[in-house]
Amino acid sequence: MRIAVVAGDGIGAEVVAEGLKVLDAVLPGVETTPYDLGAARYHRTGEVFPDSVRDELAQHDAILLGAVGDPSVPPGVLERGLLLKLRFDFDQYVNLRPSRLWPGTAGPLANVKPGEIDFVVVREGTEGLYAGAGGGLHRGTPAEIATEESLNTRHGVERVIRDAFARAAGRTRRKVTMVHKTNVLTHAGGLWARTFAEVAKEFPDIATEYQHVDAAAMFMVTNPQRYDVIVTDNLFGDILTDIAAAVTGGIGLAASGCINPTRAFPSMFEPVHGSAPDIAGQGKADPVAAILSVALCLEHLGHPDEARKIEEAVATELSGRTGEPIRTAEVGDRVSVLVA
Ligand code: NAD
Ligand code: IPM
Ligand code: MN
Repeated sequence: MRIAVVAGDGIGAEVVAEGLKVLDAVLPGVETTPYDLGAARYHRTGEVFPDSVRDELAQHDAILLGAVGDPSVPPGVLERGLLLKLRFDFDQYVNLRPSRLWPGTAGPLANVKPGEIDFVVVREGTEGLYAGAGGGLHRGTPAEIATEESLNTRHGVERVIRDAFARAAGRTRRKVTMVHKTNVLTHAGGLWARTFAEVAKEFPDIATEYQHVDAAAMFMVTNPQRYDVIVTDNLFGDILTDIAAAVTGGIGLAASGCINPTRAFPSMFEPVHGSAPDIAGQGKADPVAAILSVALCLEHLGHPDEARKIEEAVATELSGRTGEPIRTAEVGDRVSVLVA
């Protein structure tokens, strides 16, 4: 098994180091190869993501990523040129973002007990506003116009919706909630709604519901227990999964997989959070999201027992927290001991 590691920027390197410790403890001998990409390389060489590196990454079974983006680099250069290019080039159309309220964790919601929140967002990963054309006119003048188009294909929408139903079929609550904004975005929303209704017919015993994204944002805060599988477009999924993280103990716990279910290209596993420049270099980032991303990676690569071990160790780690400030490396050490 060969895993490429893109630690990236800010706390990316700090949390990935802990993920790798845990990987080595739970499944010794996995070959991991670091790739130097991100702000430092950009400043040193002007390169964001050379094709030669892309071709090497493509040869791996999976990619572990920390985070990319740095205040010293103009917004979008690394995010689009590296992170989104990885997701697009490797056709990682299922951006899988599980949320659960872990034992020992108190989210901000009173009276919600661990176990009661357990859902997964299937966020479309290759289309939407992230992939559409855009442009500007009269830049810097009072007449400036800027456009961003949302790209939605029948193929792209259908495959991610079908994936969401298939996931729901393997879960206990067996419900898919489609989230969009069909009351305003009638073109893309129409395609999503029609496709959802058609794919649903293939899964007659899966319950379905539809919510507009504004209402979903509200229910995500007031009643996240209601969700099982949520399927939604790229941008809505981005926003909803930060809310989901917040109601289940914080962004430091939220893991994700950018999955290519066909396995034509490697899938990528990364925390939902970013490079957190505000706390980078202080050794206080929570590495749990990166550690749980390793678990998602192992699950994907056919090692479910090791993935469960990591999840159990994380549950123990979180149950033992007292509210003291986190020390990144100590969390990785404790979880490594628990999984070994
Ligand atoms: P962010 O997720 O980096 O940080 C938001 C807040 O959450 C910050 O206060 C940060 O300190 C805190 N936080 C994040 N991860 C944490 C952790 N593991 N432990 C404790 N606290 C944590 O989001 P942002 O500030 O909006 O973005 C910063 C940079 O990261 C930007 O350049 C952005 O583009 C990039 N970004 C990258 C990714 C990615 O690589 N997948 C994701 C989101 C943002
Ligand atoms: C995420 C991030 C990325 C996204 C950015 C950095 C491109 O916010 O992984 O959630 O919007 O997908
Ligand atoms: Mn995000």
